[in-house]
Amino acid sequence: MKCNQKHKLMRISFIFLIVLLFVRGYPAEENTEEETVIEDFFICRTCGNDVSVANLAFDKYTPLALSATNHSFTETRSVLIQEVQNPLGIRFHIFLVKQASCAKVHPWTIKSTWFPGYAWKVCVCPKCHTLLGWMFEPVESATAEQSFPSEAGFYAIIFQNIITEGFVNSLLMKEKALRDN
Ligand SMILES: *[C@@H]1O[C@H](CO)[C@@H](O)[C@H](O)[C@H]1NC(C)=O
Ligand SMILES: [Zn+2]
Repeated sequence: MKCNQKHKLMRISFIFLIVLLFVRGYPAEENTEEETVIEDFFICRTCGNDVSVANLAFDKYTPLALSATNHSFTETRSVLIQEVQNPLGIRFHIFLVKQASCAKVHPWTIKSTWFPGYAWKVCVCPKCHTLLGWMFEPVESATAEQSFPSEAGFYAIIFQNIITEGFVNSLLMKEKALRDN
């Protein structure tokens, strides 16, 4: 019960953060904070920590993608999933979001970037330290003081390492239906 309440509090502060970002991102629109409906949560597949929300997903092609497909996270939200490969030959399916929750890590690097003009660093879950993806920041602003991407940057999330809350809930509903029968 106590644990549940703590999670709820964390969730509320996370929503608040996201809403703040929305308002800052679109100053022309008024009262955005009251109108924003969270479409779905992306959560860490390993520990269930909030990573981002479907509303913050956006599409940007990398010229280095091995393949690309559109994936529907929700009825209204289709997101570009691109397959990329690192110098070790390991392949990942990634999608992009404007904001995500990552632990603070070491400096930016420009070596082997998937997005020309952008430096990167890894995004690991702040709670369980699983690799969630990478953070990207324009090379000019990728300084030591810039720990996380600015508004000009973004996050690439590994599709296999997150799960949506909508999907988790659908599983719980199924399980409950099975138990009730
Ligand atoms: C994904 O959908 C967008 C918009 O509907 C379309 O322009 C694009 O070609 C699609 N991409 C792929 C890889 O199917
Ligand atoms: Zn985690």
